[in-house]
Amino acid sequence: AELSDRVPLIWLSLAECTGCSESLVRSTTPDISTLLFEHVSLEYQEVLMAAAGDQAEENLDNAMKAYKGQYLLAAEGAVPTANNGTFLTIGSKAETGVSLIKRVAADAAAVICVGTCSSFGGVQAARPNPTGAKSVGTIIDRPVVNVAGCPPNPANITGTLMYFIMFGRLPALDIFNRPKWAYGARVHDNCERRGHFDAGEFVTQFGDDNAKQGYCLFKMGCKGPYTYNNCPTERFNAHTSWPVLAGHGCIGCSEPDFWDDMADFEKP
Ligand code: SF4
Ligand code: SF4
Ligand code: F3S
Repeated sequence: AELSDRVPLIWLSLAECTGCSESLVRSTTPDISTLLFEHVSLEYQEVLMAAAGDQAEENLDNAMKAYKGQYLLAAEGAVPTANNGTFLTIGSKAETGVSLIKRVAADAAAVICVGTCSSFGGVQAARPNPTGAKSVGTIIDRPVVNVAGCPPNPANITGTLMYFIMFGRLPALDIFNRPKWAYGARVHDNCERRGHFDAGEFVTQFGDDNAKQGYCLFKMGCKGPYTYNNCPTERFNAHTSWPVLAGHGCIGCSEPDFWDDMADFEKP
């Protein structure tokens, strides 16, 4: 496709672990090459772009000027605010994450928070949060879409991008600004172990006979009953598996403050 047919995408990396970028490149529907060659023009993405240093900064500035009001902004990572934001500085001018996200969000067509860090603060914002990490939505003065998860399913990232590209607007959102099409159902309600939960058949120790039977992981701390996400139906790694199928309970990674509110992850 011509560049004019593709939607410019700027992806910022804030206080993050790059797991969300890793998830993006594992997209299958569409796959990452179809996404990049047919649907988006990736103007800036620190993991994938060829440019480095001054040239990378120049590309960002040029894209913001050329596609003002038209580019999609994806933000990965929380925004450290303590110490005037200096726990995160980026580029040759040592710009803080606070300044960068405000500047780039101001002229974006839409802002998509990719992952629980940018959506809700994530692990960076867990107690005692020494860097004063906050979600992107609390820093910028405009609505955001929260594609939650640590990391989110690649389908939830590309699906949200493709929704905007196809319909020119954002999808319906839940009370935490998560797209309803991906986060509308509880993990527990689509879990293949749910029949065992209803029958009172539980794993009580990892590796026990009940674990071998695929019984419910609730007593091993599964947070599926409190978590909204499409992991059981979408699965990860080209629809191969997901945490509960692999034998560990859900830790609630798409919920706000799950690091504080849902730990200890292996206790009910
Ligand atoms: Fe990493 Fe999880 Fe944060 Fe994504 S949401 S940047 S995977 S810690
Ligand atoms: Fe619910 Fe978790 Fe048991 Fe599945 S394993 S039925 S999500 S409590
Ligand atoms: Fe996260 Fe639970 Fe899915 S831990 S990946 S929401 S199964």
